[in-house]
Amino acid sequence: MAKALDGVRILDFTHVQSGPTCTQLLAWFGADVIKVERAGTGDVTREQLRDIPDADSLYFTMLNHNKRSVTIDTKNPEGKKVLETLIKTCDVLVENFAPGALDRMGFTWERIQELNPQMIVASVKGFGPGPYEDCKVYENVAQCAGGAASTTGFDDGPPVVTGAQIGDSGTGLHLALGIVTALFQRTKTNRGQKVLAAMQDGVLNLCRVKLRDQQRLARTGVMKEYPQYPNGTFGEAVPRAGNASGGGQPGWILKCKGWEADPNAYIYFITQAPVWAKICNVIGKEEWATDPDYATPAARLPHLKEIFAEIERWTMTKTKFEAMDILNKYDIPCGPILSMKEIAEDESLRKTGTIVEVDHPVRGKYLTVGNPIKLSDSPTDVTRSPLLGEHTDEVMTELGYSAQQIAALRTAGAI
Ligand code: COA
Repeated sequence: MAKALDGVRILDFTHVQSGPTCTQLLAWFGADVIKVERAGTGDVTREQLRDIPDADSLYFTMLNHNKRSVTIDTKNPEGKKVLETLIKTCDVLVENFAPGALDRMGFTWERIQELNPQMIVASVKGFGPGPYEDCKVYENVAQCAGGAASTTGFDDGPPVVTGAQIGDSGTGLHLALGIVTALFQRTKTNRGQKVLAAMQDGVLNLCRVKLRDQQRLARTGVMKEYPQYPNGTFGEAVPRAGNASGGGQPGWILKCKGWEADPNAYIYFITQAPVWAKICNVIGKEEWATDPDYATPAARLPHLKEIFAEIERWTMTKTKFEAMDILNKYDIPCGPILSMKEIAEDESLRKTGTIVEVDHPVRGKYLTVGNPIKLSDSPTDVTRSPLLGEHTDEVMTELGYSAQQIAALRTAGAI
């Protein structure tokens, strides 16, 4: 079956996680993604956190599926010419170098426009224009600067970063949307444009509800669904909310049977208002359904700790999966705390292609996360990541270079 982005050629100048996440998605949608790397070393993640000596790391393989790899030394004059040829034949250049690196290579926006006025130049940077625009940024820096860390964790502890890579992979997702939008606009304007996704902006976008809460706090001085209410104190900034729900339906993480030995024997339980009476029945507190101190969402807010303690007395008598089965029968929203081991072994995720087993010529079989976005007319087939420079000759030949020219460029250290 044809793919949504068939015919789109991406010059992939990305490395580490944020940029590669973006170009991997585009490749899964059918774009021809040509990853440009330095001969000898390539993307630094090929050798980071290796679990098998001399094999590309899982860090690299899990972020670079469905791409082709070519090696070009873009600081070598002959290498620059090869890159110019590529720029002329591609639709999008994606990069996440440190600020200024592309300019220092000689590929300014103006130069790229001269070579290909239709080219879309898409960048991930740590910060947008402003005091930090020249800074190099990694995941956790973005989580801290984007508002995630100050609002994550418990009130009596330090700021905490989350395991979800919202700075890197989150910004890569934002960039991918920017690219397809620019490609769509190009169908009308016939012009390229710059697309920028700053990691601070991407994280803040995902922390939107916390900026909502900042303004609620400034106006009212209190947020009644936060664990600080009613006995704790609120300061001037949104506090860390522990496991409180970010929405209008209070929730918390509760212990389940086996929690003493299993660090993930927990369930997330939401006391959704429409099913309050059913919750009361399930936990054996039928009287709460009509008691004026508990019957309405507003009345319950000062009692949330006590309510969750009572519900936990019930969840501790069930495993998280038993509790799920019972609660789902009553449409009570809840979710098991799944470990990565449980997710890796989950058959239903494999059936949908969300977890995929891939074979690699050097490392053998490994698991990866497939495309989380499913298109009915553009299904994703996950193919392994390329070896360093695996497609250099193939791509050079497509660009019109002869075997002799390729050999000469290799001898000159340009490719
Ligand atoms: N041929 C020749 N040189 C190449 C090359 C190639 N094929 N590919 C890269 N380079 C050079 C670059 O030109 C740059 O050289 P310069 O510093 O002399 O200009 C150099 O490699 C290093 O690039 P840089 O991006 O600075 O890498 P770094 O390892 O020092 O920094 C980051 C890594 C991630 C901190 C930085 O790239 C960054 O801040 N990126 C933007 C934000 C981002 O995406 N962060 C998240 C990463 S998951």
